[in-house]
Amino acid sequence: MARLSGKVAIVTGGAKGIGRHYSLALAAEGARVVVADIADGAAVAAEIAGKHGADAVACWECDVSDEASVKKLVAQTVERFGRIDVLVNNAALYATLTPRNYDEWDVETFDRVLAINIRGPWLMVKHVAPHMIANKSGKIINIASGAAYKGIPRMLPYVSSKGAMLAFTRSLSRELGAHGIAVNSLSPGYILSDTGLANTKHVEEERVAVRNSRAFKRDGYPEDLTGALVFLASDESNFVTGQSLVVDGGSVNN
Ligand SMILES: NC(=O)c1ccc[n+]([C@@H]2O[C@H](COP(=O)([O-])OP(=O)(O)OC[C@H]3O[C@@H](n4cnc5c(N)ncnc54)[C@H](O)[C@@H]3O)[C@@H](O)[C@H]2O)c1
Repeated sequence: MARLSGKVAIVTGGAKGIGRHYSLALAAEGARVVVADIADGAAVAAEIAGKHGADAVACWECDVSDEASVKKLVAQTVERFGRIDVLVNNAALYATLTPRNYDEWDVETFDRVLAINIRGPWLMVKHVAPHMIANKSGKIINIASGAAYKGIPRMLPYVSSKGAMLAFTRSLSRELGAHGIAVNSLSPGYILSDTGLANTKHVEEERVAVRNSRAFKRDGYPEDLTGALVFLASDESNFVTGQSLVVDGGSVNN
């Protein structure tokens, strides 16, 4: 039996890049998936509907940094599906950022990265958690990054936001544990997503060095992450909370 039958999952940033693969993987395990993105999610929604039926998916535009937008998304989800079991905080400013030195970032960009990458997940939790609390269960999966463990240079606001995501996860797990809600983070290593590959310069700067840093000396792809995601979303991880799972082919050594 599919591991997420009867569950409703929201994937922020679920339209493109790695998030698209998360949306597909959760749907393949029987979840009804809400694709929440500033980008158009119609293509992935059609793909899911084609495989699993029209009731398996919805896609709505949502800017996770904007509280009114988040509130609307949560209300639409509950109206359409009646419950929320899984929240994947995946949306972030990442692939579109150009690496630069610590003193070359402007204040507006720095603030925007933090607003989307850490305030966004908090706003999502603020409005989703009451629905999980009502059911005395839920799974929150915060997408952090191996970059926070390694302290990679030239992406300071991004790496800072992902370090915050690790601390946010630990702290939140203690507040929501009493309600039966698990809060964990998943930290991908450098992944060749379609959006990352579109940024050729960025990819060539990183790709070979990262591969050589791994125990498994190969590139990482979105499909390498979906097993860990489904595990954290499913009942198989019911006694796991406040944890940080790194999926990177053995580059970060905890
Ligand atoms: N690709 C990698 O190597 C890698 C490594 C570690 C962690 N990550 C993390 O994985 C996640 C996905 O990465 P990706 O490579 O697919 O990046 P990406 O930049 O291609 O995808 C981000 C997604 O979030 C959406 N988004 C951006 N701003 C938004 C907003 N304000 N509200 C809602 N949606 C918004 C985008 O439209 C896109 O669909 C991110 O959290 C990223 O930090 C990626």
